[in-house]
Amino acid sequence: MTIEFTNFSFRYDSQVNPTLKNINLTIQQGEKVLIVGPSGSGKSTLGQCLNGLIPHVIKGEAKGSLSINGKNTASMTMHNVTAMVGTVLQDTDSQFVGLSIGEDIAFALENRMMSLRCTRWLSRQQNG
Ligand SMILES: Nc1ncnc2c1ncn2[C@@H]1O[C@H](COP(=O)(O)OP(=O)(O)OP(=O)(O)O)[C@@H](O)[C@H]1O
Ligand SMILES: [Mg+2]
Repeated sequence: MTIEFTNFSFRYDSQVNPTLKNINLTIQQGEKVLIVGPSGSGKSTLGQCLNGLIPHVIKGEAKGSLSINGKNTASMTMHNVTAMVGTVLQDTDSQFVGLSIGEDIAFALENRMMSLRCTRWLSRQQNG
């Protein structure tokens, strides 16, 4: 999976100035990237761009492009972005359905009617 921000800016409707300004960032498959910055600098906003909440649910003015696997997220549906990107929030206990990441991944796959054999295998890999 490749993530590519190109001259990407985003301003919340309720804000005068853009929160994200001219972001150029490419993340290749397998890379682990840590986004660091002071409170209010836009880390969560960047995450919401990646999982599609921006622009599909949270409204504002976006410029430039964000593409995931070569597809511009703005021209995809929220549903399709969700199929590619997952978000783990700070308080995982209030978010997870199962007792482990493996169970949660399996839960999502089961809901997509993937075979039980495949989801059990995935769960074993995750639980190590
Ligand atoms: N839904 C929203 N509507 C309007 N402005 C918002 C919204 N969410 C965030 N902001 C504004 O965007 C800026 C960046 O916020 P964001 O939450 O992305 O920062 P952050 O780096 O994640 O901060 P923290 O380290 O505190 O989690 C802040 O000025 C914030 O007030
Ligand atoms: Mg945050």
